[in-house]
Amino acid sequence: MKQIVINGGKTLSGTINISGAKNSAVAIIPAAVLCDEQTTIYNVPNISDRDALIDILHLLNCETSLNADLLKIDSSKLENKKIPLELSKKMRASYYFMGALLSRFKHVEMYFPGGCNIGKRPIDIHIKGFEALGAKVKIKGDFFTIDAEELKGTNITLDFASVGATINIMLAAVKAQGKTVIRNAAREAEIVNIATFLNNMGAKISGAGTSVIRIEGVDYLHRAMIEVIPDRIEAGTYIILGAMIGDNLKIDNIITEHIDALLSKLKEMNVKFIADDTSVTISKCDNIKATNLKTAVYPGFVTDLGQPMSVLLTQANGVSMFEETIWENRMGHVKYLNKMGANIKNGNTNSITIGPTPLSGCEVEATDLRGGAAMVLAGLIADGTTTITSIEHILRGYDSIITKLKNVGADIKIEEIKEN
Ligand code: EPU
Repeated sequence: MKQIVINGGKTLSGTINISGAKNSAVAIIPAAVLCDEQTTIYNVPNISDRDALIDILHLLNCETSLNADLLKIDSSKLENKKIPLELSKKMRASYYFMGALLSRFKHVEMYFPGGCNIGKRPIDIHIKGFEALGAKVKIKGDFFTIDAEELKGTNITLDFASVGATINIMLAAVKAQGKTVIRNAAREAEIVNIATFLNNMGAKISGAGTSVIRIEGVDYLHRAMIEVIPDRIEAGTYIILGAMIGDNLKIDNIITEHIDALLSKLKEMNVKFIADDTSVTISKCDNIKATNLKTAVYPGFVTDLGQPMSVLLTQANGVSMFEETIWENRMGHVKYLNKMGANIKNGNTNSITIGPTPLSGCEVEATDLRGGAAMVLAGLIADGTTTITSIEHILRGYDSIITKLKNVGADIKIEEIKEN
């Protein structure tokens, strides 16, 4: 068992290069099995979710080669196998194999996916999409069997603009007969990245990035390549950090447009930064204004930055109100921020923060991926030493977080927890 140890209070300067987006890569890797030949994926982040997905590819008889951030996948000898419980549960994104294998084999056997405990996380919208395309879904406890004699294009209006359901239905529909139209589709940048990958293979998808996606089914998908877009959540996490302890901290290799909602909010809070199309340079702000913040689907303020942002709110002058609208359980980290000295009152999906309050290092836990990132930010701005346990959550989603932070001046390390 490992923990992160941080000696806080150091000023950070230099450049942090942002890696490929976790939430794009974790869909692009399963999407690769739709290809009847080989695919090449650039800018793949080095995160444990990547490795768990590659384990599933190997189970399905794909050949892979990974060289730094370059992943090659040969799915020409793909075999359909039941994805066992331990692989299904390792992460959320295992469920993209439902859409992809349904498309290739018209038969899928796997378990309900895992992932962070940030809400109930049902997959009813995915299932309704598969059924609309002609599949039959049998659920026994946590085990899913999905079968179709054939998949036929149809009109599907999603109950909610779910990122996962939009991608999964897109994967299932690319080889369906005829035309599928997904209405109320999610518009996240990651969806455009995945649609581009499929189109590079010969799929006929239009409208990705808008709320109406049109897919004309094709029979064969050929060799293709794709570059994973920069991770807007990783970028946002470090930008928020820069507003608290940066000294010309440059967050580089980003698509700035993808984080417009964050930058608008920071401006409103009096935080100063210089932004161009691919980078943001930011320094500590001494007079942060309190704000009201509500998460929303893209292009609104992204839920995944709510927890990192809650650390900045502890440093803002006055009362900040926060409302989480996507997940029911993203407040687990608040008790640890309060343990460090914050003044936050919270319900399940909202909080009131009174600031500014200095934070002091202590023992805390990473309750989930972004809650863990919030603990890292809190530890870096706090006085004294913070130790964070359950760090596997953080390593699932932040590429080389220790090295990247050390390189800009942080005193942070991972160490083995000594058993008594
Ligand atoms: N929902 C349903 N039924 C469904 C699908 C979703 O009720 O069939 C609900 C969810 O319970 C939730 C809301 O709809 O309340 C949004 O869920 P969505 O499907 O959009 O989320 P997701 O695809 O499961 C992805 C990211 C999350 C991110 C959300 C929202 C991945 C692997 N995960 O999840 O990322 O918060 O979109 O943008 O892409 C993270 O990176 O920390 C993370 C949790």
